[in-house]
Amino acid sequence: MRKTETTDVHDILRRAIDWAMEAGHIQREKFRSRHLFMETKSSIHDVVTEVDKACEALLIERISNRYPTHNILGEETGEHRNNPDAEWEWVVDPLDGTNNYSQGLPIYCVSIGVRYKGETQVGVVYVPFMDELFSAVRGEGASWNGRFIHVSRKTDLNECVLATGFPYDKGTNPLNNLDNACAIIPNVRGIRRMGSAAYDLCCVASGLLDGYWELDLKPWDACAGALIVEEAGGVIKPFRNDRHISIVAGNKAIVEAIYQKLNANV
Ligand code: IPD
Ligand code: CA
Ligand code: CA
Repeated sequence: MRKTETTDVHDILRRAIDWAMEAGHIQREKFRSRHLFMETKSSIHDVVTEVDKACEALLIERISNRYPTHNILGEETGEHRNNPDAEWEWVVDPLDGTNNYSQGLPIYCVSIGVRYKGETQVGVVYVPFMDELFSAVRGEGASWNGRFIHVSRKTDLNECVLATGFPYDKGTNPLNNLDNACAIIPNVRGIRRMGSAAYDLCCVASGLLDGYWELDLKPWDACAGALIVEEAGGVIKPFRNDRHISIVAGNKAIVEAIYQKLNANV
């Protein structure tokens, strides 16, 4: 799907980049502010700040103004069904890495994925502290600050540096990824818990990481990043059907090697 009467993917890409950078500007302005208002969400481990909310409000306002017939799914405000027949949907994580952000740690980003009839067509991830922009359009490759990128070409898991994450209900749900981490960590060169799933996926796309797995992600965490990985020649493989979005990312060989070690239950 390249074009409809009213919607062009390159127009969507340009706007998504502009708006992600605008939200990123708000994030940089308030970063390490002594007066950052925060509250908890699903558990004491799951926080939201005034900046998450301000960025989501900005993105929803921008999208709704330019594309009034598109639907929007935002992490903080849920579904905005502007049009019951909408074929386009924007999937927005206004600030991925809120735990990092609230601590003053610099790995956080804005993630915007845009789907047509359920299939992601455009992905944009902007990392404000590092001023790094990752993006992809389906069928056109993925880029990092304007340069095409490709996933790592390693094939031996023992040479790999991987990332993962742990769900917010890790204290109460035994499916908390600790078993997978125990099985994988002895067999890799290094493991990282960077705290932003969207950024993890972009690091896989650009070869900064050789692979990644995580369970219990939500659409806004993975929508943009998964397209960026696939457009960078990588593979996204689901590994559980009972923990929302649970995925392995990397090149085909490394995804299979990680998958073999996971408690996969598909
Ligand atoms: C979280 C981050 C984290 C991942 C969590 C996500 P948030 O998103 O991406 O790395 O482990 O599963 O929920 O809450 O910072 O937007
Ligand atoms: Ca997120
Ligand atoms: Ca978020």
